[in-house]
Amino acid sequence: MPSSYVEDPAPGHGSSAPRSAFRSDAPAIGLGGSWRFLLSPAVDAAPEGIERDDFDDGGWADLQVPGHWQLAGHGAPAYTNVRYPFPVDPPHVPSDNPTGDHRLVFDLPDDWPDGPAVLRFDGIDSCGRVWLNGAELGVTKGSRLPTEFDVGALLRRRGNVLAVRVHQWSAGSYLEDQDMWWLSGIFRDVTLLARPAGGVRDFTVDAGYDHLTGRGTLRVDADSGVRVSVPELGIVGLPAGQLAEVADVEPWSAEAPRLYEGEIHTEAERVPVRIGFRTVAVEDGQLKVNGRRIVFRGVNRHEFHPESGRVVPREFAVADIELMKRHNVNAVRTSHYPPDSAFLDLCDTYGLWVIDENDVETHGFSELDWQGNPSDDPRWADAYVDRMRRMVERDKNHPSVVMWSLGNEAGTGRNLAAAAEWTHRRDPTRPVHYEGDTDCSYTDVHSRMYASHDEVDRIGQGVEGPERVRERPFILCEFGHAMGNGPGGLLEYRDLFERHTRCQGGFVWEWLDHGMAQHDAEGRAYFAYGGDFGEPLHDGNFVIDGLVRPDRTPSPALAEFAKVFEPVRITGVDGALRVTNHYDILSTEHLDFSWVLEEEGIEVAHGALTVPPVAAGAATDLPLPGLPATAKESWLTVRAALGADTPWARAGHVVAWGQTRTAPAPAPAAPATGAAPHLTATELRLGPGVFDPLTGRLTALGGLPVEGPRLDLWRAPTDNDRGSDDPEEARWRAAGLHRLQHRVVAVEPLGDALVVRTRAAPPGLGFGMRADYRWSADGQRLRLDLDVHPDGAWPCTLPRLGLRMALPAALGAAEWFGRGPGEAYADSRQAARVGRFTGTVDALQTPYVFPQENGNRIDLRWLRLTSDDGAGLRVDGEAPFAFTARRWTSEQLDAATRTTDLVPGDTIVLNLDLAQNGLGSASCGPGVLPQYRLQPESASLTLTFTPQPPSPAGTPAAEETPSR
Ligand code: GAL
Repeated sequence: MPSSYVEDPAPGHGSSAPRSAFRSDAPAIGLGGSWRFLLSPAVDAAPEGIERDDFDDGGWADLQVPGHWQLAGHGAPAYTNVRYPFPVDPPHVPSDNPTGDHRLVFDLPDDWPDGPAVLRFDGIDSCGRVWLNGAELGVTKGSRLPTEFDVGALLRRRGNVLAVRVHQWSAGSYLEDQDMWWLSGIFRDVTLLARPAGGVRDFTVDAGYDHLTGRGTLRVDADSGVRVSVPELGIVGLPAGQLAEVADVEPWSAEAPRLYEGEIHTEAERVPVRIGFRTVAVEDGQLKVNGRRIVFRGVNRHEFHPESGRVVPREFAVADIELMKRHNVNAVRTSHYPPDSAFLDLCDTYGLWVIDENDVETHGFSELDWQGNPSDDPRWADAYVDRMRRMVERDKNHPSVVMWSLGNEAGTGRNLAAAAEWTHRRDPTRPVHYEGDTDCSYTDVHSRMYASHDEVDRIGQGVEGPERVRERPFILCEFGHAMGNGPGGLLEYRDLFERHTRCQGGFVWEWLDHGMAQHDAEGRAYFAYGGDFGEPLHDGNFVIDGLVRPDRTPSPALAEFAKVFEPVRITGVDGALRVTNHYDILSTEHLDFSWVLEEEGIEVAHGALTVPPVAAGAATDLPLPGLPATAKESWLTVRAALGADTPWARAGHVVAWGQTRTAPAPAPAAPATGAAPHLTATELRLGPGVFDPLTGRLTALGGLPVEGPRLDLWRAPTDNDRGSDDPEEARWRAAGLHRLQHRVVAVEPLGDALVVRTRAAPPGLGFGMRADYRWSADGQRLRLDLDVHPDGAWPCTLPRLGLRMALPAALGAAEWFGRGPGEAYADSRQAARVGRFTGTVDALQTPYVFPQENGNRIDLRWLRLTSDDGAGLRVDGEAPFAFTARRWTSEQLDAATRTTDLVPGDTIVLNLDLAQNGLGSASCGPGVLPQYRLQPESASLTLTFTPQPPSPAGTPAAEETPSR
């Protein structure tokens, strides 16, 4: 028998009218902690009478509230992206509907006042039926939205019995098909709040800013008798509904989040508030705040913690925001539901533009061609408006919230239009967003996800879409799919945001990897993804697509984001420096500029740089500082750092940097020649090299056993290579690039050189790559000139083009002069600067949750790989080259599905590359841009290998450890 309320498409019932989230001086107690808990497999299997005082919950388990029962050993999490994990049969849900009964007995503090009180639930997933002291309070739906019940008359001094029956599935689940783990329970705070008679029930702060006059206006709407005071502005006891004007107010913005402390008060209650003056408007087809066009350099943020799911400890929310601010993120879309409201407090404080998104997604109906979509079904009308209302009322007083979003991927229909209409009426101060309203018939901005660069360009030019859409500001509510290694192509999006005023930025998908912290049988830690909990239907590692790992370790893509979207750009132009201010509002006054000159990556001079303040949007040119002469390749690096501490970073934090070359590399050393090949019975010698006379492969170098360099075209495919449709990886595998066979055509001395001619080609196919290795040497150095020529009709791009060799495992320390410290690829290389870097082979790996190609360092002039005693190998490139070094092969990396699959072997596999294919963003969105695709073409690479003797001092000096 279905329980009617569970399958009722209507909102919950019994709750009081939604209002803003605030804490006052009225007493409140948090009811979080250890509750009693019982999980039943179905609604009807749950025990009767749990609301009664005398119900015996002695046999129940203990459960921490807030929490998800699946993460406390009751049931298991499940991950799906688009598909509902149950039959699409709205509003029905499976009879096997896990039902979690929660009970708490609590006393009131001795000084708890008699009178009205509310019981507040900040989030119950997905549907809760609530009783207090035997009386039913009502039913909650809308998992990530608050519900309050009036309970004053029911409270007892001692022994209050609170019972909450939570159902995993409900009609509400049809509206909550976000791409994330299905997790149930009372996952946000539960609070009992005394509500003094004559107190502040609710209030709406309208704090505008007139950018032409600098004047602020303040009006607080609330019940009569409510007053507002902002002592700093001389506002004392301003009655609700009255307007105050303040000359010369400092406005709030994400860049300068000025908040004025105030109080909303009555005789009976005082509510601290923080007021930010700002005006949001859509004007001339642009989104403006305080009269200025703003650009979202944003991220989509889910609420997630690797151990507690959507229960996010405050320190993680703070860590998220600090990391965002430190990486030049200026905006958050709260994908795809309102976050814990504490997160919005932090956005107000630290300064982030927020698109607050409603808890609505019906994406699974796309599988049915949107037939039966609740968004257009009158039975769900109230649910849509109810959810919108609860979000808007809860969050309306946050200056950081500059736009409301109706939800995500819910198709389109009258219920969304009605939610938009309600919102426009309730809050005319903020535009309404919804990506699914493709013709902007009820929303205020044109929004797209994963539009290609070309399409964004056309939108920017105003030649795409109907008139109504072309008149609107344009944002990418999702772009740059950060799954695994990538995205590539952020720089080109930035250029479009700068070229077209109507293109006002976007939000990278997404902030974090939703990996669940697990341990394998051997106790090794890893992060789990879809399928790891035995779900019959799942979407694998598609939930691992963030800029930070589940534990908030930044991925290389976050460094790239920070560099691409840095608010100040420092470039070398014709022997001078140009500083361009890309802030929307701030001048550069708060920044200290400094320079350092490095000769072959070693600092030779540094100093402060005086930069006159540059206004937002302006640029200035400066002469280079006086620099000492240098002989080797030298680079000037200029950094702009915070001049004073901020809440999110200390003074000295670098927000932007640029480099310019001040001296080129000297002419390369004379080629290694002079030694001649010398054949003995078993080996072929040339200078410091020993070769196999049959295969022509180098087997030793200066006494170091090696598996000599051989052509390699394969990389362990990235998530973006695997793509969503028309994947590059499929073409590469069909072309057999992962199983090339090498035929030795000839091994022949040619004068002083040894020439090895080969052809590498996939089995069963006719095309291939001719690779000629020409080795020459002097006493110490071995030089390789590699020439490659495609042979036959190639069907695809190449993952990589270069050489693979194997070295003794002891050569675990790398040092190079090139770009670093982090990994870089053709279309994701802005964060890599020219310098000299060191790092262990182990530290060169980026431990993507789902293993794949990683750790590539580019533009190397030279590389040294050494063991503890300093002995090893140096490789010099005649032209810049790239390398990866790892303790496993590309094939092993390719086969691994979690980090614990990667077990160090007994060699170091070193790839020395001419190039790799770009990364793109095809795991969801456009692939690699044409200019970053690696085509099979003739190419050559010249490298010189020099054995390194043990260093007299033992270990080499470390200048820098790559940071990731
Ligand atoms: C979008 C969706 C996101 C996420 C993303 C792919 O379509 O809005 O929630 O699924 O694709 O990771």
